[in-house]
Amino acid sequence: MTSATTSATTGVETPAEVLVETVTTVNGREVRATVPARLHVADFLRQHLGLTGTHVGCEQGACGMCTVIVDGEAVKSCLMLACQLDGRNVRTVEDLAEGDELNALQQAFKEEHALQCGFCSPGFLMTATALAHQGYRPGREEIREEIAGVLCRCTGYDTVVTAIERWFAEHPQTAAPSAPDALPADTDTTATQG
Ligand code: FES
Ligand code: FES
Repeated sequence: MTSATTSATTGVETPAEVLVETVTTVNGREVRATVPARLHVADFLRQHLGLTGTHVGCEQGACGMCTVIVDGEAVKSCLMLACQLDGRNVRTVEDLAEGDELNALQQAFKEEHALQCGFCSPGFLMTATALAHQGYRPGREEIREEIAGVLCRCTGYDTVVTAIERWFAEHPQTAAPSAPDALPADTDTTATQG
């Protein structure tokens, strides 16, 4: 699918934009969308689905703040195209809490003071959640290595590691199923902005 645009003032036609139809599961709900081929996942989630809990920092894969989970693996959503989500399962930070109740990992972050400004927190939370999908309890050093892809300018990391370590210790069965409460059922969206 393509959509050429013509300037109303100059009459100049810009190259046709390639649009791609996708069907994705986002936080347990099916999402049908028509997306520009160059739209990255972070913008798709934030701008078209309203899931602004996924933060964007560098947009070049360096800061990790945009981390989401795709098919069980932590992915930097600024480095993945929305059209690549077709047929895949995405979890964002909105999927963690149960209504107004923080989940156990978020509660551990709160109690261990593992955030200050909180801008990086979605990246840490989703990285840790993906780590739980591996099905075993990581040690403190492994946790530190796993979260190394997320940059934080506030905490110094120790409290983040402690919170994740505590979560694994207190909740050994932490790979919780997706909670379908972040989007209305069968969301159908046409995402045509690049
Ligand atoms: S915004 Fe994606 S890694 Fe920085
Ligand atoms: S808590 Fe501020 S950047 Fe991490």
